[in-house]
Amino acid sequence: MPGLLSSPVCLTVIWFLSWSLHPSWAQIRTDEVSGVQYGHLESNVTLACGKSQIRMPVVWHLNHSSALPWHEVTSNGTLVLLQVDHSAQGIYSCYDNRGLLLHSAKLRLGHSPGLLSVSCRVPNHTHVRCSWVNSVRTFLPAQYNASFKGKGAEWRPCVLDVARKRCDVDQPAFWQTMHTLRVTETNALGSITTYHIVKLNKLLKPDPPEALMVKALEGYPKRLNVSWKVPSSWPEEVAFPLVFHIRYRPQGSVYWSEIYSEESPVVVLDALAGHLHQVQIRTRDELDTESQWSEWSPLLLIRPWEAYTTSTDPPEDSEETLSDNVDPFNTKLETSTAKTHNPVIEEEGNLGLVILLVLFSVVILITVPSLIYVVWVRQGRSDPVTKQELTSMVNMKSMPI
Ligand SMILES: *[C@@H]1O[C@H](CO)[C@@H](O)[C@H](O)[C@H]1NC(C)=O
Ligand SMILES: *[C@@H]1O[C@H](CO)[C@@H](O)[C@H](O)[C@H]1NC(C)=O
Ligand SMILES: *[C@@H]1O[C@H](CO)[C@@H](O)[C@H](O)[C@H]1NC(C)=O
Ligand SMILES: *[C@@H]1O[C@H](CO)[C@@H](O)[C@H](O)[C@H]1NC(C)=O
Repeated sequence: MPGLLSSPVCLTVIWFLSWSLHPSWAQIRTDEVSGVQYGHLESNVTLACGKSQIRMPVVWHLNHSSALPWHEVTSNGTLVLLQVDHSAQGIYSCYDNRGLLLHSAKLRLGHSPGLLSVSCRVPNHTHVRCSWVNSVRTFLPAQYNASFKGKGAEWRPCVLDVARKRCDVDQPAFWQTMHTLRVTETNALGSITTYHIVKLNKLLKPDPPEALMVKALEGYPKRLNVSWKVPSSWPEEVAFPLVFHIRYRPQGSVYWSEIYSEESPVVVLDALAGHLHQVQIRTRDELDTESQWSEWSPLLLIRPWEAYTTSTDPPEDSEETLSDNVDPFNTKLETSTAKTHNPVIEEEGNLGLVILLVLFSVVILITVPSLIYVVWVRQGRSDPVTKQELTSMVNMKSMPI
């Protein structure tokens, strides 16, 4: 036997084993900290036990526990996790049969990115903003890359706002009607590029006009003066004229009356005298009839001037917007209930105290006379007591506590 141990073959095997194992231990130290392996959900994921190809029995642990999800271990120690789901994520470590750590890696699972659903807004002739939503939930961090170009032109970057999943292009070549946006999403499991065709003039949609103001005109019960400002995101230059669309109706009516105008203000001549009116405005690029109308501005409420206004209808009511209409009775009711809540509790507390005091005095009223009676009976049986002693005793017992 000693001959066998010292034989050159055995020595070679021992030397080879130690030579091949030591480098892999050294490598673990670095892997342990930063090694992340990514895998596809609902697929088989293969985890190699380090880089050594040596055949040896190994033991795998997940999060320092020997309980593993559904798996197979191949003859070279590779772990194959079958049809993984989210619960298979964690830190996987493999050990040799002496319990030495050979390799450790963190497993993260997810999906490769899918095509994006892109939409773009064009609030003026100098700006395009595109945003997107993911069609696939990947469960993994992603990077984006976006660029934009007109037909036949060079790609130029679309400036990213990754947190809001959108990008911006300034000064697009508006004279070219067709543009392409290209967005690439990349994660640890893959990359995909979505192409989106943009027709700038068809997407051109100003923001709603601002500062809409409607005023009654004194002496004119059927007139309203409507004024507004060009949306602040629209260039003030004469090169981009806007057309404005005003609509109004008596509150409760289903039919709108309409006025188109290029300039503020406009006077409504056919308001219904004595009625509250709703007024709104929107706008569009005047020259490009393919472009879109803005959203409507918030609704304004106004009553035309009346000859005999009653005191129950104060003038400041007339310019309130719908959203500002708060029912004053409701708020008052709430505050008053809040105020009466506590006093009820206090009264209940006081009542309890009163009952306790009454009970206490009843007890005293009953015990004191009976004590006096008992003492008087005892004294009467043994040596008779003087009347003064008895009265002093009564005084003591009935002294207030
Ligand atoms: C996963 O591995 C199992 C067993 O080796 C095999 O039957 C199955 O087809 C594999 N599934 C996929 C998606 O590769
Ligand atoms: C393993 O630990 C990770 C955190 O590092 C945790 O998210 C995962 O759920 C754990 N997995 C199991 C099976 O305990
Ligand atoms: C982003 O796209 C540009 C243009 O296609 C390309 O040159 C660049 O390498 C891309 N960057 C990344 C991180 O994909
Ligand atoms: C065009 O719209 C964008 C986004 O609202 C805005 O930042 C930009 O200042 C506008 N351009 C002009 C010339 O008003």
